[in-house]
Amino acid sequence: MVITRTREELYKILEEFSKNPGKLALIPTMGNLHDGHLSLIKLAKLKASKIITTIFVNPLQFGKNEDFKKYPRTEKLDIEKLKKEDCDILFVPRNDEEVFSKLDKIKTLDSGNLGSELCGKIRPGHFDGVLTVVNRLFELINPDVAIFGAKDYQQQILIKKMAKSLHPKISLLKAPIVRSKNGVALSSRNNYLSEKEFDIAANLFKCLQNSVYSYQKKEKLHEILNNANSFLVSKNLKPDYFELRDSELNLISKNNFEGNKVFLGSVTINNTRLIDNIEF
Ligand code: PAF
Repeated sequence: MVITRTREELYKILEEFSKNPGKLALIPTMGNLHDGHLSLIKLAKLKASKIITTIFVNPLQFGKNEDFKKYPRTEKLDIEKLKKEDCDILFVPRNDEEVFSKLDKIKTLDSGNLGSELCGKIRPGHFDGVLTVVNRLFELINPDVAIFGAKDYQQQILIKKMAKSLHPKISLLKAPIVRSKNGVALSSRNNYLSEKEFDIAANLFKCLQNSVYSYQKKEKLHEILNNANSFLVSKNLKPDYFELRDSELNLISKNNFEGNKVFLGSVTINNTRLIDNIEF
């Protein structure tokens, strides 16, 4: 695996790789790689012959009181894992300028109305920051394929919309959620949880499963949502939101919506926020 920390070197490596036939797949990450990330690489290998991963904890997507400083940074371990997965290139910028030139001059992208709903309501500006960095990585790397995890459902929809207008040639793929044995969706933020909190966290997935079951049994949506919120509270999880949306994240208020849909939930345990969803 070739590792580069500068944009200039990245361009050279990409130029060299472009001489080999085959597609280039990009997996953007913030590091602290777990099996969820590694599943993205496995999927990338089925879709492309050259794989580039980026590790960059993007300051633009963290709010003032969020965990930018304490976000887990585990570069050495990450490099070992990427080597094992046969990743070809790792771009791990040595500073913000290698991505953005001047961070304070960067023109941020606007994630629109959807960017202010669900997670965006709790984290104002978060999705503008995500879209800005992903757009920048697309500009720098110009991959054929880019892969994102289904756990971050809203992120993935917003990126798809952004890419459709700004990078129509890049195909976006969504990789299924990877779960731990107790059902908790893998996330770097699970590191913040104690063992007991990790057990409690499994109730978010249970709640999503119960809600899907109830919806399929034609229970009334407002009752399902009320029950879900009460269930989460009874398990010491503070719901930030729990909603049913269609697959493009438009609101659904009907009891028998036939199309593809998704229950999405976000809960807080102590100060750790966890998200999860089930599509059906
Ligand atoms: O999902 C993430 O890890 C980040 O939001 C991403 C897509 C790498 C952008 O910083």
